[in-house]
Amino acid sequence: MRPMPTPDDSGYLDSVRGQVPLYDALQDAAIEAVPFEPVRVLELGVGTGETASRLLNRFPDARVTGLDSDPDMLFKAREIVDEVSLARMEDPLPDGPWDLVLSVLSVHRLTDEQKQSLFRRVRQQSKALVIGDFVSLGDDLGETRVSGRAYPDTAANLARWCDGEVVWSDDDLVVIVADYR
Ligand SMILES: C[S@@+](CC[C@H](N)C(=O)[O-])C[C@H]1O[C@@H](n2cnc3c(N)ncnc32)[C@H](O)[C@@H]1O
Repeated sequence: MRPMPTPDDSGYLDSVRGQVPLYDALQDAAIEAVPFEPVRVLELGVGTGETASRLLNRFPDARVTGLDSDPDMLFKAREIVDEVSLARMEDPLPDGPWDLVLSVLSVHRLTDEQKQSLFRRVRQQSKALVIGDFVSLGDDLGETRVSGRAYPDTAANLARWCDGEVVWSDDDLVVIVADYR
């Protein structure tokens, strides 16, 4: 029996909601965009497991592997997902096949080339991809909202690179879904 997700006590949620006022709307839109009931799910940049927790509320039978490069974030996510993978999105992905690869507020950390490489690898072993993220609106908005190194692209480029479509957007946030079935 899966343990009930516990409330986040790391301070992450307060902090990210302060930085991204539409955080909850973005999460809801990403989960809403999942095109079919997935079983095997890989979340890239799982963080403390907030997105995974919402996915599991909607699809309780899903089995989620959470990948993240930050061991402190993964420590919390361990309570929520079935497996954790301490790894970078730039490196080979955990073995699929996956029904769904999901990533929220993480892919903007990759350069254009890294994103395109990631999307090619995802497509080889996943039936669907859902991305929720910052995008560039053609000015510096994306860069000023994100601390640290970040490479937000336009929504059009992201959608083209993963062969997906934009299904939700608000301000500089989008959700893109690619259904490869
Ligand atoms: C803002 S959190 C998003 C967590 C969750 N999806 C959410 O929406 O709340 C982004 C996560 O991506 C991870 N991350 C950033 N760059 C990464 C990379 N290159 N490879 C793997 N994880 C990465 C960070 O460690 C962080 O936990």
